[in-house]
Amino acid sequence: MSDALKRRAAEKAADVELRSGMKLGLGTGSTAKHFVDIVGERIRAGETYLCVPTSEATRLQAESLGIPLTTLDEIGEIDLTVDGADEFDPALNLVKGAGGALLREKMVASNSKRMIVIADASKQVARLGAFPLSVEVVRFAHGASARALVKAFAQEGIRAEPRLRLAKDGSPYITDNGNYIYDCANDGIAEPAKLASRLDAVPGIVEHGLFTGLCFAVYLASEEGVAVLGRKP
Ligand code: 5RP
Repeated sequence: MSDALKRRAAEKAADVELRSGMKLGLGTGSTAKHFVDIVGERIRAGETYLCVPTSEATRLQAESLGIPLTTLDEIGEIDLTVDGADEFDPALNLVKGAGGALLREKMVASNSKRMIVIADASKQVARLGAFPLSVEVVRFAHGASARALVKAFAQEGIRAEPRLRLAKDGSPYITDNGNYIYDCANDGIAEPAKLASRLDAVPGIVEHGLFTGLCFAVYLASEEGVAVLGRKP
């Protein structure tokens, strides 16, 4: 997705959704980054927002823009969280986590009255699974957790190949929470909520990137404009 389209999706979401005084969750990634820029611009123009970042990278960006920040512990319920996604399906189930921030992203989204996604058509799929599902695991016995992951996918009839995410220097990638990530290539997720329940039950798995029932709307940017896809009741 071009950077201009990412910015357009973020601008449209800001125009429709933002009201001065809101408590905001700030997402992570190259699309969410544009929304954070816009919140910074609005604050410089005199609006007020109190925000919770979903990653250390977003925290650093928000601080550099002078955006007032607090913690999820302190803020209570968030009015609106705006984030990117790796994939979304027609029911607005999401795959997230390519940026490594899925745990905090899900915690912040779950504590929000409304979570919306900004994206372009490359993220829109009929069925989740073309993109590997990121799963955050504790470092202890992570190889055993990877084997348990394969079994959990198999119980849902899905073939998965977990691959330990590596940093640029070849060492394991470490999340903001001190954990590892397995990226699970798979042959398609027909029932995301059922797989999510399976994965939730595996010891050693801290969180996975399936977001079911959390996203209210997707702001979908294309050369023709920005469409708003709402969740069907
Ligand atoms: C980070 C995420 C991102 O929101 C997701 O990977 C999309 O990123 P981008 O906007 O850079 O394509 O889930 O954990």
